[in-house]
Amino acid sequence: MNPSRPHLLGLEGMSAQRIKLILDTAESFKEVLERPIRVVPTLRGVSVANLFFEPSTRTRISFELAEKRLSAELVNLSSATSSVLKGETLKDTARNIEAMKVDIVVIRHSAPGAPHFLARSLQSSVINAGDGAHEHPTQALLDLLTLRERFGELKGLRVVIVGDIAYSRVARSNIWGLRTMGASVALCGPPTLMPLGIEEMGVEVYPHLDQALPGADVIYVLRLQLERQRAGLLPSLREYTNQWGITAERLAKLRQEFIIMHPGPINRGVEITPEVADGPYSVILDQVTNGVAVRMAVLYLLSGRKHEG
Ligand code: CP
Repeated sequence: MNPSRPHLLGLEGMSAQRIKLILDTAESFKEVLERPIRVVPTLRGVSVANLFFEPSTRTRISFELAEKRLSAELVNLSSATSSVLKGETLKDTARNIEAMKVDIVVIRHSAPGAPHFLARSLQSSVINAGDGAHEHPTQALLDLLTLRERFGELKGLRVVIVGDIAYSRVARSNIWGLRTMGASVALCGPPTLMPLGIEEMGVEVYPHLDQALPGADVIYVLRLQLERQRAGLLPSLREYTNQWGITAERLAKLRQEFIIMHPGPINRGVEITPEVADGPYSVILDQVTNGVAVRMAVLYLLSGRKHEG
């Protein structure tokens, strides 16, 4: 890995101090986003390439908005419109980007480790925008910011992550980030979608929602990753919804106050009902709003530039 350039590849191993710096910086950028003119010249002259080899709505748009708000120069590449369709390898794509002198590369890829590969191959800083089922660090950072805004601090929170843990990069990054910041994490989902040995990450595991949900400050609902499922892991979608779907009836049994989170996109009526997703406990759109400020903070901190406000 190129030591001269900083990267954001994951939250595994990131210190509490570094996470706090990113969240504090994101808070200061939220103030910029509330001004009538939401653009600052901080990254003028910095070039950013957004390489999206998998579909994305929230991550892609919020990176692009973050780059525009910081006055960076940006280029977008997606697998549907790139020479990847003609058989070009990731290594060759990377070498061509290098030749164009890009400062920061944002990459989403279906292969775990693709951002790490680029970080070893390029002089640019690399940001992981989601690599297979491995990590999605900026999603977890925007989730941490949303929680800190709601609860004041992260230490002592009880977060229950529900659903398809096996295929979830969001779960993995959130577990690293939440545990580092002193929150407790419980996982609940079908045993077939629960990785063996996941308890070693310092989490509790429950097969049934009725055991997991009491006492939760946060119910974090994951998308059932239908496109990554191998056959035979679930009896049926209806059975999944019956056992692990977050419904108003299930929430009505809880005695404590709580909030509902989801990284999106939502399978409405599968892992969560529309009534809950759009209901009073939901902070799902606050998560999306915070995505722009968090990505501004990450881009800014990696660039090494000075922010004049
Ligand atoms: N949460 C998330 O990564 O959403 P997108 O796939 O739309 O970017």
